[in-house]
Amino acid sequence: MSPVDLNVKRPIPPSLVQVLPAEPLLLMGAGPVPVPAEVARAGSMVINHLGDTMNLVVDGVKEMARYVFQTQDDKIYGVSGPASAAMEMAVGNLLWPGRKILVLKMGTFSNRFAEMAAGVGAQIEVLEAPEGEPVRAEQVEKKLAAERFDVVSVVQGETSCGVWTRELPRIACLARQAGALMVADAVCTLSTMPLKKDEWGIDVVFTGSQKGLSSLPGVALIAFSDAAWELLQQHPGPKPHWCLDAQRAQNFWGEHTYHYTAPVTGLLALYEALRLICEEKLEQRFARHRHSSLALQAGIEGMGLKLSIAAEYRLNSVLAIDIPPGTDGVRARRYMAERFKVQISESFGRDIVRIGQMGEQCRAPNLFRTLHALGVAFSHEGIKLELSRGMAELEAHLIQHAAGIL
Ligand SMILES: Cc1ncc(COP(=O)(O)O)c(C=O)c1O
Repeated sequence: MSPVDLNVKRPIPPSLVQVLPAEPLLLMGAGPVPVPAEVARAGSMVINHLGDTMNLVVDGVKEMARYVFQTQDDKIYGVSGPASAAMEMAVGNLLWPGRKILVLKMGTFSNRFAEMAAGVGAQIEVLEAPEGEPVRAEQVEKKLAAERFDVVSVVQGETSCGVWTRELPRIACLARQAGALMVADAVCTLSTMPLKKDEWGIDVVFTGSQKGLSSLPGVALIAFSDAAWELLQQHPGPKPHWCLDAQRAQNFWGEHTYHYTAPVTGLLALYEALRLICEEKLEQRFARHRHSSLALQAGIEGMGLKLSIAAEYRLNSVLAIDIPPGTDGVRARRYMAERFKVQISESFGRDIVRIGQMGEQCRAPNLFRTLHALGVAFSHEGIKLELSRGMAELEAHLIQHAAGIL
């Protein structure tokens, strides 16, 4: 290979001032979501990754995470990376050749457990739900009665299609009775709806920073029960991931010593995001999310668009909306972004668009702006929608149920 000639003139990419839009888009997709000003400020600081100040931050994050996960667990870690890194930490520490996982599959993210478990050589069984529905506790019960599993994995909210595992508490109970560890993905649901880790008997739960918590992307959170911790210590080694080795993470998160250089800015931002949740209080936050989502759902249906998932399985934190026949979802989303500076998400191979209802997305002005942009964009595609009726339904729900909380 010839050496790189430093004297050759190369184009320098433009500065970010030129690259970024003059007015930021309102992020109303499936994540990342807008962050509060306190979080943005905290995320602009760099401090040393070890030392007294960082120790206070680490202890504070753990303490506040205990509240948000509703757990007494001691083994709580911030993981440098996306939520998938926390999923990988769960899989890589609890599974190895000879161990077996039951994966409850409802879409792309629940299936990711199976992809990761294959990577560490575990045995995998996938229990798949019919399209647009969650896996039922009944199915899980049958499977667990017939076979022994070390781990059962579930996603509380399947972001890819907008399905809610409503029976999570019962599924966790079944896993415990069958002697399996319950691992739950709460990536798009944590702090948007109840998740009672200890009361429901969930062994491992994780989330990302960029969704319900409304923090900067790049730091995930995970909590291990004592039973999960005991089991992961039996790993025959070597562990597949050095950075994601939970026992090594304990150096930093338990002993305040070096594991790797912590994602300092992301942790500061997460600290602030968690602190704001503690201030708001979970019950209040759940009510804000629920009514924001229900108001938006009323507005979407009121203008004549169709929500993809039946009400009983519908996830409030990410709404899937059918793309009306004869319209182009990609073009409609682009129109929303260009004309109204509102960004919503595409699908994972389905005929849907998705709107997020997580963290700062659940504020009244964001709802009005998004619903209006959605209605205009699909009307522009040539279908007849009752835009004003939809906006009125949204407003009516907010007035009736959510005055003062959004
Ligand atoms: C339910 C769920 N699990 C896992 C992930 C993966 O998160 P990340 O993209 O941060 O790795 C996502 C991302 O959208 C998700 O919604």
